Amino acid sequence: MKYEKLFSPITLRGVIFPNRIQRTSMVTGLTTEDGRVTEDLIRRYQREAKGGVGALVVEAAVIIPSKSPYNLRISSDEFVPGIAEMVQAIRETSSEVKIGIQIMQHLKLSRSGWRQKVEDFQTHELPHIVENHVAAARRSLRAGFDFIEIHMAHAYVLSSFLSRANRRTDGYGGSLQNRMKLPVQVFQAVRSEVGEAFPLGIRMNGEDFHLSGNTLAQSSKIAVKFAQTGADYISVSGGSRFEDALTPPEGSPPDPMSGYSGHRMSPWFWWPDGANVYLAEGVRETIRKAGFHTPIVTAGKIREPEHAERILRQERADIIGLCRTLLADPDWPIKAKEGREAELVRCGACNSCLEADSRYEKVSCSRWPEGLLNAPDSFRPAMARPSDIKKEFI
Ligand SMILES: Cc1cc2nc3c(=O)[nH]c(=O)nc-3n(C[C@H](O)[C@H](O)[C@H](O)COP(=O)(O)O)c2cc1C
Repeated sequence: MKYEKLFSPITLRGVIFPNRIQRTSMVTGLTTEDGRVTEDLIRRYQREAKGGVGALVVEAAVIIPSKSPYNLRISSDEFVPGIAEMVQAIRETSSEVKIGIQIMQHLKLSRSGWRQKVEDFQTHELPHIVENHVAAARRSLRAGFDFIEIHMAHAYVLSSFLSRANRRTDGYGGSLQNRMKLPVQVFQAVRSEVGEAFPLGIRMNGEDFHLSGNTLAQSSKIAVKFAQTGADYISVSGGSRFEDALTPPEGSPPDPMSGYSGHRMSPWFWWPDGANVYLAEGVRETIRKAGFHTPIVTAGKIREPEHAERILRQERADIIGLCRTLLADPDWPIKAKEGREAELVRCGACNSCLEADSRYEKVSCSRWPEGLLNAPDSFRPAMARPSDIKKEFI
């Protein structure tokens, strides 16, 4: 086998993940406006599961009642049956893939340009943030997921508590110790809800990529704390912070993807491949030195199986996160495993998917035939002309 590391299994709390490829969380815009599962959403995940990915993290699910159009919701019990049906459908497509969900509390935004900040929460409201995550975890268990990822990266509540930009003065901001307090409380409360046998990971920023944000100096210490607290994996992302967003046009909310920080989460075509691997490597090195073996996930423009294998061999990370790479070609894992690299449809890092997400539109890949929400089954680069593909697959 050419990519031995990539296709070696990994066990987290007794749950066997068949390979080291994790489809990282990706908002799809395929839910109903009020956040319910649709046939299109189910088909998107089934398509990805079919391609041989080892772990699939379902998109950031909103855990609070709020207006947040076309985002998957797990903010009340009424959403559980739809999500459970989706999990079941993915499982029927692949019995091997392990299915997780990313639970996320976002900061509220308005078209006037106002955005909620961590300093806006009253101290007595903080326990609600913990409870929101616990309730979402309980629903995730009922929906049948194999694991849960707590979202502590990018532009949302927990990453903003962790950030150096958090200026709270009530013991939950300022020093690193204080900034970690709430995210650690959330983690511990979710752990007691899901129990000791259930894999629970976190996603965090290795670097916030704005002047007042965290760098590796802080994020490696945060990672050590979560390794100590029992995180089963730490997925290291970066950027996508509001502090660096451009001033939005009137009538539009600020977009955390619009500034330099935003450009680092899903590196554009002008960044080298693996632009964020050094962050995972830095975090990994620190937590290994501290004596922890917590697996580290890296993501960000990893497009070649050979590159993914090299990252693992060089012990820069333990799991390879692919998002746009799998959106462009859900069969990437199976093609890599079978040595069919020539047939890979490569992500061009054009970020038309990300821009659609920012516009609250359906997320699809610019390399697919127009109008198709899920990749055609035997999508080949040789069939690049949409008119040809349309004839063949629609
Ligand atoms: C359209 C889109 C939506 C995304 N949504 C999420 C999300 O919900 N949660 C998250 O942690 N990351 C999200 N990401 C970031 C990806 O998970 C991933 O870390 C990033 O795109 C880099 O990997 P890639 O180069 O393989 O795409 C999103 C990325 C894209 C392009």
